[in-house]
Amino acid sequence: MKLVFALTAACAALLLTTPTAFAQQPIVIKFSHVVAVDTPKGKGAERFKQLAEDRTKGRVKVEIYPNSSLFKDGEEMEALQLGSVQILAPSLAKFGPLGVRDFEVFDLPYIFDNYDELHKVTEGKVGKDLFKKLESKGIVGLAYWDNGFKDMSANKPIRMPGDYKGLKMRIQSSKVLGDEMKALGAIPQVMAFSEVYQALQTGVVDGTENPPSNFYTQKMQEVQKYLALTNHGYLGYAVIANKKFWDGLPADIRSALDSAMKDATKYANDIAKKENEDAIEAVKKSGKTEIISLTDAEKAAMKKALAPVHKENESRVGKAVIEEVYKETGFKP
Ligand code: LMR
Repeated sequence: MKLVFALTAACAALLLTTPTAFAQQPIVIKFSHVVAVDTPKGKGAERFKQLAEDRTKGRVKVEIYPNSSLFKDGEEMEALQLGSVQILAPSLAKFGPLGVRDFEVFDLPYIFDNYDELHKVTEGKVGKDLFKKLESKGIVGLAYWDNGFKDMSANKPIRMPGDYKGLKMRIQSSKVLGDEMKALGAIPQVMAFSEVYQALQTGVVDGTENPPSNFYTQKMQEVQKYLALTNHGYLGYAVIANKKFWDGLPADIRSALDSAMKDATKYANDIAKKENEDAIEAVKKSGKTEIISLTDAEKAAMKKALAPVHKENESRVGKAVIEEVYKETGFKP
């Protein structure tokens, strides 16, 4: 009898406490990325966390893992699909291995002259269509975040296409970027972002390409003597979530998170240009890396050398998507 009483009391206690205990557990969103906190993406993620937690009044907790501290390139997409992480913001050059090669349209050399042209694409039909392609992979696209235009670095002055001959250049996992380096006579090496500094330091690779904000915050000025302001291509991000997780959120929470993402996107995109300009100044100030500005003739030679990369990748990236981007940006192949 005593036992029955004790069990009944225990069950009653459980019934009384459990709903409250569950109600108090916040929904945890792990947001993993590979760059430093002090970058456009790092700051955008922090802003999203703050807005998401405020607007859901603590019902959501966003845990940010910067600098590849949770997952690195080559691991994070699978982790997202498996639900080990809920949000990522990989660069648009990292969707090929997932089987969505159309994203590599963003890697085509010189396809965007400025952020305005880029935004016409990300905020237009192409941007939406690309996100639709992610759904069959169990992924939902939430936003496009800017970083900036890439520059080339090495330990020798790189001004003309011929200067790249034989250099081992680290690239992201995009075939378009591989063809870009080959067009310059360089040897492309796909490598996770977290390994680049050490690879440059030890000579595993000779150089790389990135927007200045990534160059500076990864301290590449310590291991690269020259940074050529080539602006030969764009690097930005797709903020993506595990679709099952996102669709399964209570409607009011999802709408608060959508609004937090919208405002964090505006913030991240507003600061990107200046963050990159400031990074060039900081690299100059470090006195360790010489900044090379190309002459008009050198720019024209780079453009000419890289032009064939567009045609070479037409079947991989998709003629239709390339032509839509040309139409939006006015790019003439
Ligand atoms: C890189 O791997 O070079 C970049 O995509 C890193 C990043 O996320 O900006």
